[in-house]
Amino acid sequence: MAQRCSRAGASALLVASCLLLAVAGSSAQSILQAIEAANLTLLAAGIRVSGLEATLNSTTGPNITLFAPTDAALLEMTAALNSTPNVLVTLGPKVAPIFAYHAISTPLLAADIPVGDTSRPTLNAGLNLTVSKAANGSVVVRGLGSDANVIRTDILASGSVVHIVDRVLIPFFANVASAAMRTPQLSSLLGAVASNGLAAALSDPNLNVTVFAPINDAFNASSAYLASVNASIVDVLTYHVATSRVVNGSEVTTSPITLSTLNSKANLTVAKDGNNVVVTPLGATTATVIAANIPVGLDLVTGGPRTFVHLVNAVLLPFYTTVANAAQRAGLTTLVAAVQASDPTFLAAVTDPAFRGTILAPSNDAFARTLASLNVTAAQLLADKDNLRRILNAHIIPNAAVFSTQLTNNQTVNTTGGALLNVAISNGVVRFNAAKSSAKVVAADVSVGNGRAVVHVIDRVLLPADLTLPAPYVTVAAAAQAAGLTTLLAAVTASDPAFLTTLTDPDFNGTILAPTNAAFTATLTALNLNASQLLADKANLRRILNAHIITPGAYRSSQLSNNQTVNTLNGVVTVRINGTGVFFAAAKSSAKVVTPDVVAGNAVVHTIDYVLIPADVTLNTGGGGGGAAGIASPSVLTLLSSALAFLALFAFGRN
Ligand SMILES: *[C@@H]1O[C@H](CO)[C@@H](O)[C@H](O)[C@H]1NC(C)=O
Ligand SMILES: *[C@@H]1O[C@H](CO)[C@@H](O)[C@H](O)[C@H]1NC(C)=O
Ligand SMILES: *[C@@H]1O[C@H](CO)[C@@H](O)[C@H](O)[C@H]1NC(C)=O
Ligand SMILES: *[C@@H]1O[C@H](CO)[C@@H](O)[C@H](O)[C@H]1NC(C)=O
Ligand SMILES: *[C@@H]1O[C@H](CO)[C@@H](O)[C@H](O)[C@H]1NC(C)=O
Ligand SMILES: *[C@@H]1O[C@H](CO)[C@@H](O)[C@H](O)[C@H]1NC(C)=O
Ligand SMILES: *[C@@H]1O[C@H](CO)[C@@H](O)[C@H](O)[C@H]1NC(C)=O
Ligand SMILES: *[C@@H]1O[C@H](CO)[C@@H](O)[C@H](O)[C@H]1NC(C)=O
Ligand SMILES: *[C@@H]1O[C@H](CO)[C@@H](O)[C@H](O)[C@H]1NC(C)=O
Ligand SMILES: *[C@@H]1O[C@H](CO)[C@@H](O)[C@H](O)[C@H]1NC(C)=O
Ligand SMILES: *[C@@H]1O[C@H](CO)[C@@H](O)[C@H](O)[C@H]1NC(C)=O
Ligand SMILES: *[C@@H]1O[C@H](CO)[C@@H](O)[C@H](O)[C@H]1NC(C)=O
Repeated sequence: MAQRCSRAGASALLVASCLLLAVAGSSAQSILQAIEAANLTLLAAGIRVSGLEATLNSTTGPNITLFAPTDAALLEMTAALNSTPNVLVTLGPKVAPIFAYHAISTPLLAADIPVGDTSRPTLNAGLNLTVSKAANGSVVVRGLGSDANVIRTDILASGSVVHIVDRVLIPFFANVASAAMRTPQLSSLLGAVASNGLAAALSDPNLNVTVFAPINDAFNASSAYLASVNASIVDVLTYHVATSRVVNGSEVTTSPITLSTLNSKANLTVAKDGNNVVVTPLGATTATVIAANIPVGLDLVTGGPRTFVHLVNAVLLPFYTTVANAAQRAGLTTLVAAVQASDPTFLAAVTDPAFRGTILAPSNDAFARTLASLNVTAAQLLADKDNLRRILNAHIIPNAAVFSTQLTNNQTVNTTGGALLNVAISNGVVRFNAAKSSAKVVAADVSVGNGRAVVHVIDRVLLPADLTLPAPYVTVAAAAQAAGLTTLLAAVTASDPAFLTTLTDPDFNGTILAPTNAAFTATLTALNLNASQLLADKANLRRILNAHIITPGAYRSSQLSNNQTVNTLNGVVTVRINGTGVFFAAAKSSAKVVTPDVVAGNAVVHTIDYVLIPADVTLNTGGGGGGAAGIASPSVLTLLSSALAFLALFAFGRN
């Protein structure tokens, strides 16, 4: 000791400390006694509660080096964590890792510190400090979260050594901004954080979050794309911060965990994939964690970190990058299969990050419904390349992302196949009407490429005019019109407007028993009425029409069985099936099915040969029976022409 103090070339600092030691006297003291003698009262208090007291108050070893922070250093550190030394002391043994981080496991006198950087294990197992000596003899100790200058050297405590330092060495980062600042691989992230006004938020030591921090290579790789889609960097950066407190290795399993982020518009999922932890954003590129569990902040309840930073190898994009990406994440598997089965140009368009346009994307249910109404299987449609191409072409509005706010009622939009779609907006429901089908938007405005393209998910497949498969009618009214059911249409038009609404609704889920013109003639004859009389008798007309509407439930003939009863809007009808056909029996008449299973939108139409007369009809109904031929009277024809003109506004169907 005396030798060292007298060694030639000792720094002024060393000389000063030797003088102080001379005053302090004995070296047969423990580390704890030495720091008490040096008036490092806050450090002494911390050591006393930490559980390190026995080790640090020993005069018989183990011999170590302690970098001892001043009271001012402890005050500064706790203030940076929005706390005080007293609060730190209340953590008791939980503070041990901090103080153990100040002790290296061998005695190291100032003169023995080599010039340059030396990494030394600390009593905080697995963590090293870097002791760095400059040519002029000054020593800096670098920890994970902070660096400290040695301001007084070589206080001897039995075989141990104490050096006083001006900062607390923290085995974690004080805050996220500091983690980025002290990690060279995060300099690009740090620059982006600073230039987008997020530095202050990420300097908050109270954040309880998880940060997925893209390394410089990842940042640089994404910058051109982000610029090309004019992405909001704030949206991108906030997407890398999950709002839950921590995610560490053991919490992550092969079943994905969903994490909310500071970007309220999008979540992330995290899952194990083999030995990797993979983060899946909305955007197509997943990221792999390449360095996990970098600790940030001090949780004053547990003594552990508040936040973990995980370094990742890709920037997480909070929006879909391609239409295929959006379709795949939304589970639109049938659409994806259709695109793959079709012309390669479709696949090229949906996987092109530069694609601009609007895609109307039928859901899996939409395909199932449409395939059922087309009476083909998915395999049949996928094999029918021409019709598949015509169909897909009718779902692409090229060149512009048309968001729902840009759509107006009765607007016409063109598609890549040249099929024109009519937009109908009513009560907040948006429909796209194609020549042979009508689809409702069920999920609007799925943005792709930050608004470069947009996907609207729809509930039906759009069937264009050039489709060569026999397509279902869009509405019951269209089916009735095509089948020449002019008297029925006249009756509907003359009656309650609600009937017309029902029969022109592509979503109407029901079964219509539709009397043919001959059925009306036969029934009118039997009732001894003419058509005008029936049409003028609104009350009975309404009762009669209601007895022909089964809802909910579109019953195909295969779903009917003998003696089955089904509810109409006015009473029950009984199904009779025998060798001569399928019959529906109402209270005062029954009718035979003439043409079964005409699919119209969601509904099924069976034409019948007689009008069903329910119990509450007050006409002289005579006897019910099968149909007979008849000729419509001139008055009926007059009514029909006006009814059809009206219907033409609503109904659209097979060309
Ligand atoms: C410690 O504090 C006491 C009382 O304030 C003072 O007398 C003593 O000189 C101080 N010792 C050191 C080494 O600063
Ligand atoms: C440290 O040890 C000395 C002697 O072994 C003892 O007198 C003193 O009370 C101890 N200090 C603490 C804080 O336990
Ligand atoms: C700590 O330092 C020792 C000795 O210098 C070295 O062998 C070891 O690799 C270092 N450990 C870490 C985690 O840096
Ligand atoms: C600690 O150092 C002292 C003085 O150099 C020495 O006598 C003692 O044996 C050392 N103790 C241990 C456990 O190495
Ligand atoms: C973080 O969690 C601690 C409790 O452990 C709580 O006191 C603090 O307010 C939380 N901070 C934020 C920003 O939510
Ligand atoms: C994120 O997930 C939470 C909970 O799982 C959910 O409530 C929230 O709606 C999701 N946010 C987004 C934008 O998907
Ligand atoms: C559906 O197609 C099958 C043959 O693929 C045919 O047997 C059946 O009659 C069709 N059904 C309807 C309602 O057209
Ligand atoms: C819808 O647009 C067509 C022409 O595109 C026009 O003839 C018709 O009057 C419009 N209908 C309504 C209800 O605006
Ligand atoms: C619709 O687009 C096709 C080409 O995609 C074009 O040939 C056709 O003229 C367009 N129709 C209208 C009405 O703009
Ligand atoms: C129609 O109604 C029936 C009976 O309520 C129901 O089972 C079926 O799912 C409905 N279909 C549609 C397409 O809504
Ligand atoms: C149908 O109902 C009739 C009488 O209502 C009855 O005689 C007959 O056995 C029933 N048939 C079946 C198959 O249930
Ligand atoms: C079949 O049932 C209908 C309606 O119930 C009836 O009018 C007809 O006579 C029956 N035909 C035979 C062959 O039983």
